[in-house]
Amino acid sequence: MKHEKKKRVQKNVLVFGAEGMLGKEFCYALRKNARYRVFPASHRTADITDESALAGCMKKVRPDIVINCAAFINVDACEDHVLKAWQVNALGPGNIVRALGDAKLRRAVFVHISTSDVFGNDKKAYRETDTPHPVNAYGGSKYGGENNVEHEARSAGLRYYIVRTSWIYSRFRETYFIDTVAKALARSETLTLVSDQKSVPTWTRDLVRSVLPLCFGRNNSGTYHVVNDAERAVSKYEIALEIKRILCFGSGALRTRAARARLRRAFRKDIFKVERPASPFLINTKLPKLPHWKRSLKEYILSLHLV
Ligand SMILES: NC(=O)c1ccc[n+]([C@@H]2O[C@H](COP(=O)([O-])OP(=O)(O)OC[C@H]3O[C@@H](n4cnc5c(N)ncnc54)[C@H](OP(=O)(O)O)[C@@H]3O)[C@@H](O)[C@H]2O)c1
Repeated sequence: MKHEKKKRVQKNVLVFGAEGMLGKEFCYALRKNARYRVFPASHRTADITDESALAGCMKKVRPDIVINCAAFINVDACEDHVLKAWQVNALGPGNIVRALGDAKLRRAVFVHISTSDVFGNDKKAYRETDTPHPVNAYGGSKYGGENNVEHEARSAGLRYYIVRTSWIYSRFRETYFIDTVAKALARSETLTLVSDQKSVPTWTRDLVRSVLPLCFGRNNSGTYHVVNDAERAVSKYEIALEIKRILCFGSGALRTRAARARLRRAFRKDIFKVERPASPFLINTKLPKLPHWKRSLKEYILSLHLV
């Protein structure tokens, strides 16, 4: 029998928000795999509120997969600029799906990143099927984005995945919570952290590893919860305690400095101007479990070479 070599066709992957923390992680992972040809689109090169820019992108790239990481994520700024929040977080994702449909790219897969902040304070933990009740403009606009994606994708007959996640951290943004806390503890500083707002810290590396197979699998369109595994939601105060514990296993000097660092509790009402959900804990009922948050946190902290 004649052996036919299977032709490996490269997939064009268009990533919006490619210069943001999560967008960079997706581009990094995709570039390592010869099956993908990556087209990074930044705020500067492709504004998702600009329908003609999106039409141009679709024409040029003809994507097989589109991943939307573009968003306006500053919770306080969203409250002050509600219209902008709505344009970027609610209308923008719908614009992308419509542009795909208009370009007749109906076989494309669309992945949209959303947040645990679509939920409010009605429960302590949420499944994919629970109804969101956002408490602020950021959460409201992200929920609007989910609804628009669903509506536009169904009308265009496109496969879509809405991926909700929480408290992401990444080597692509060193000024973020985990890095800032680890570096401050390694300098013996005293830190004050919120103890009555809880969620699950999620390493972008793990999130991307879980989401990319969705683009090739046979999973049904819909909403997916992708967070590191956890028994319960934890506060930033508790995460900092865990980081301190990890650092205290380090070399002599680092151990001494971290052990001297002090952690103090603060409360949401004393820190935040805008209301945040108290415990938007996402339960993943559809996808394989991600590593436990403590395991990933340890691996991440070790990769910072502080220990
Ligand atoms: N960060 C978290 O802890 C967290 C938690 C849960 C869910 N998420 C979700 O994860 C996704 C990625 O978040 P991230 O932390 O990576 O945010 P990020 O670092 O702020 O990245 C978002 C990117 O979107 C770009 N952008 C903003 N407005 C745009 C527009 N109109 N058109 C095109 N691009 C635009 C931003 O560019 P400029 O900076 O130039 O405006 C930025 O590069 C978001 O959907 C967010 O809701 C984040």
